[in-house]
Amino acid sequence: MKILNFGSMNIDYVYRVEHFVRPGETLGAISMEKQCGGKGLNQSTAAARAGAEVYHAGMAGVGSEMLVSMLKDNGVDVSCVCGCAQPAGHAVIQVNPRGQNSILVYSGSNHAFGREYIEKTLAKFAQGDIVLLQNEINNVPYIMEKAAEKKLRVIFNPSPAGEEILGYPLESVGLFILNETEAKMLTDENEPERAAKVLRRRCPGAAVLLTLGEKGGIYSDSEREETFDAFSVAAVDTTGAGDTFTGYFIAGIAQGLDTGENLRRAAAASALAVSKKGAAASIPVLAQTLAFLARESRK
Ligand code: RIB
Repeated sequence: MKILNFGSMNIDYVYRVEHFVRPGETLGAISMEKQCGGKGLNQSTAAARAGAEVYHAGMAGVGSEMLVSMLKDNGVDVSCVCGCAQPAGHAVIQVNPRGQNSILVYSGSNHAFGREYIEKTLAKFAQGDIVLLQNEINNVPYIMEKAAEKKLRVIFNPSPAGEEILGYPLESVGLFILNETEAKMLTDENEPERAAKVLRRRCPGAAVLLTLGEKGGIYSDSEREETFDAFSVAAVDTTGAGDTFTGYFIAGIAQGLDTGENLRRAAAASALAVSKKGAAASIPVLAQTLAFLARESRK
């Protein structure tokens, strides 16, 4: 089973700061690093590092050479990536001493996905393949509709979640991977289990994987409900941890992993990502994740 990810690619400018900049304040950064990121790129990288066959469909804007190289170096197929005259997308990321982040995104070429390109790309994939989407590119509703018409399995991570997602053809989605804030935006429900139920009622046939940070999360579909725990690690940088979880979980689906084992593996990979600096750079390879799990099970 192939994974096609229509996803963003960003140059991340990561600033370590004592605290997030306040309105009207000028603050000196402790350090600055230029790294590869973007929710799309991070998720493609995570799925590939977990051992899946991944195709990234993205708009390579001006200055994005390092992003395409990063994907290639990790074994992601970049034959669907398209050159674009607009500047590459970028993110300005502040990371505080607790490892929390604050992210400002400039879309750039990530908002240059045209309908013709989308159709041509989808034509290379067949029934049963997975189409992964986040909410950092344009034309997401069009991709959802066309992918569902072709009977591809649409997996949607509605991040970052803006009001516009309420108007998306969500009935095309086969699996939602989302956090509490995104679930609240989609369902207006504060209570996570209730939010998952409401979403599944609204999109019959869809599975819902709700991540709850340090509390783990809940997976539910028409046949089962499973909760999972998060692993406790010292947080260095939480950037990209959610993307790591998503990429790993989708790789596990493509590889036919049992759901419980898949959730545990994705949670382990995400814990490892939190304990390292950077977004894509912090994503572990499968061997590191399995070694971590083996250590945890001996505890
Ligand atoms: O999820 C983390 C990502 O969000 C960063 O890499 C940044 O580029 C933004 O897209």
